[in-house]
Amino acid sequence: MPRPAVLQPEASSFVTECEIPDLPGVDKSATKFYKVTVSKNTTQILPGVDTEIWGYEGLYPGPTIKVKRGEPAIVRFINDLSVELTVHNHGGHQSSVADGFPSDLILPGQFKDYCYPNISPVERDSSGVLLNTDSDFTSTQWYHDHAVDITGQNVYMGLAGFYLLSDDLEDGLINTGVLPGGEFDVPMVIQDRRFAADGSLVYRPEEDNFDGWLGDVFVVNGKAQPKFHVRRRKYRFRILNGANARWMELRLNRGRFLQIGNDSWLLDHAIARDTLRLSPAERAEVIIDFRDAPAEVFLENILEMKDGRRPEDDLLKKGVPLVKFIVDQQEEPVDNATLQEGQTLRPHTPIREDEIVKTRTFKFDRRKGAWAINGEHFDPGRDDATPKLGTAERWILKNSSGGWAHPIHIHLEGQQVQKINGSPPLPQDSFKKDTIQLGPNDEAEVFIKFRTFEGRFVFHCHNLEHEDSFMMGKFNVKP
Ligand code: C2O
Ligand code: CU
Repeated sequence: MPRPAVLQPEASSFVTECEIPDLPGVDKSATKFYKVTVSKNTTQILPGVDTEIWGYEGLYPGPTIKVKRGEPAIVRFINDLSVELTVHNHGGHQSSVADGFPSDLILPGQFKDYCYPNISPVERDSSGVLLNTDSDFTSTQWYHDHAVDITGQNVYMGLAGFYLLSDDLEDGLINTGVLPGGEFDVPMVIQDRRFAADGSLVYRPEEDNFDGWLGDVFVVNGKAQPKFHVRRRKYRFRILNGANARWMELRLNRGRFLQIGNDSWLLDHAIARDTLRLSPAERAEVIIDFRDAPAEVFLENILEMKDGRRPEDDLLKKGVPLVKFIVDQQEEPVDNATLQEGQTLRPHTPIREDEIVKTRTFKFDRRKGAWAINGEHFDPGRDDATPKLGTAERWILKNSSGGWAHPIHIHLEGQQVQKINGSPPLPQDSFKKDTIQLGPNDEAEVFIKFRTFEGRFVFHCHNLEHEDSFMMGKFNVKP
């Protein structure tokens, strides 16, 4: 299993059309400049078989962008493909123009610069004093294509990569040996793909009526069911479900996970987990301890999907292997990370009930053979919600579509899950999320604050076939 390449900044700055916003916490003099050419390439996903992919820098998955808090990044995406593109930094707190709005397209042969401030949200109290929002700073984002109507195809062909952030708190946890760092910090994107006899990727979502396109081969960091050599240490894995439509439930054939992050954020405290259920776009960051592991350990999927509609209710007894860890048996085990279950990571500051100024309800359902929210298909010209900057709202997300499951993603800000079907969420889901699992007939109540940026952003189902067939809305943050 390869580790995705890390993208290096340009040696010198370039003249850019985007603007780094003037915000507290942003050090413009520390801006880093990056260039990413989006192009076709050939790679081997299946051993010995050439497959054409579309890649950021020609790579599948794309190169990892690593940034520090307060140091802006300007990334120029150059479209060398013959399709339209737009780039969304998922989980990122960035302005509307930098957010990759689905109709803000980069035409073939053109480029676009995206300005990422890499800050936590800017919030002030009633007398204008800046509040500490350290608790909302993100760790593990991912960037991917978001072009209107063709996101599913573009991501399926390879357009996704990691965007990792760090700040003093997280660096401190690594430098004091609480969390594993360096070579023991491994991003891992899991996807499913279907191949034609000639090795090409097959993407025909219309054949499944846009229920969601599934593959029959699991691909991790761009390789089919790979091996990964590990030492007798603890590793941090940043696991991303990067599939278009497939939900997964992960387990180890031996041992448990210690979960440290959920979606973009480190958790309030570490939580032991036997299995991890991830819908498309969700992330789980975990520590796996290989100190006493046998020579082989498998990361497996135990959730079955027979079509793109929804996962099966019964879990598989015999898991499908995703990654085979090969554990070095020669060296002495070393405890390279002291983190224990329950130990504090990034303390969560809750959004309080008394901050809520408005409740909105969104029903995810079907209309005229396509996907809809509150009976409407996506229309970039229509505002589906106009929250006021600096306020917090309660959003009720309702799955009214019967037999389908929908992972719901809201841009710009994290969501604090209050209730799932009237009950409190599981501990690991009760802090911040950016993608919410809505199984058939589920209802989630979330709190969300609108900070820092005005303007238009989207929220949508992250089953990319549902998104492309219009299950997307727009909110417009007003002054
Ligand atoms: Cu990961 Cu709107 O997307
Ligand atoms: Cu959906």
